Amino acid sequence: MLKLGLIGHPVGHSMSPWIHHQLMEQQGLTGSYELFDISPEQFDTKIEQLKSEGLDGFNVTVPHKERIIPHLDRLDESAKALGAVNTVKCTPEGWVGYNTDGTGFVDSLRNRFPEALQEQSSVLLLGSGGAARGIYFALLQTGVKRVDIANRTIARAEAIIDSGGGRVASSSLDLDQAEAELGHYDVVIQTTTVGMSPNSDEHIVSADRITKGTVVSDIVYRPMKTKFLEEAEKQGAALHFGHEMLLQQAVYAFKIWTRTNPDALAILDRFESKLKGV
Ligand code: ATR
Repeated sequence: MLKLGLIGHPVGHSMSPWIHHQLMEQQGLTGSYELFDISPEQFDTKIEQLKSEGLDGFNVTVPHKERIIPHLDRLDESAKALGAVNTVKCTPEGWVGYNTDGTGFVDSLRNRFPEALQEQSSVLLLGSGGAARGIYFALLQTGVKRVDIANRTIARAEAIIDSGGGRVASSSLDLDQAEAELGHYDVVIQTTTVGMSPNSDEHIVSADRITKGTVVSDIVYRPMKTKFLEEAEKQGAALHFGHEMLLQQAVYAFKIWTRTNPDALAILDRFESKLKGV
């Protein structure tokens, strides 16, 4: 019996229990995936209590991705580089922290568009929060030509670029510049919460300058097709959706916990129906 879970605050709307139960079924495993709503005030006490729960592993979400680190015994390379953890594996030797945010994103993009990230590709990230940082570091490993970052607060974009240590050509832009330059990129990735339900009439920038054939991705998955993606579609863009990333990140965590090799695409249709029904 697998014992899995999620810690965060709030966690009530999480799709993770549904996804992980599907993955368990696919792999012929049984078990539970429990939601632990832990407020920041109770964090240190509750985490220590969690150590006696006998969990095999758990996910970590907002606002605990950084605060969990002092409670862990070891970090993998991605968690070290990002200073944030979204997956913990509980082993007899202790708790090990991973960060699957960026790699989950890149893999889901490649699942849909195998040609999107090439040596000559230019990528634009919109936003500079935790999600942008994870995706930036995963993109560094792909060998693309350029990854620029646009943000409302330009200093945050510069900070991410600086921490990349020059491993890829990168410039920072403000959002007006980004809006004007959208047509110059092969891949554009919206990494902020702008456009998320109930504010689904908002977009971070207008996608009117996107050119035909550009791959445009939005990490927001409620609604599935954000206003930004809708506008990009009208310009002839190829769309990549936030729920695809979410599913791939969950699959990554599940692989870490169980050493199985689940198939994300096999449950994608059911996941889409589930999201539309929620
Ligand atoms: P997280 O770490 O969870 O990704 P975050 O650190 O709050 O979240 O980052 C959110 C991102 O969304 C940031 O890039 C933020 O821009 P700032 O760095 O300028 O704050 C961006 N963001 C949030 N609301 C926005 C808005 N209304 N317009 C433009 N950008 C916005």
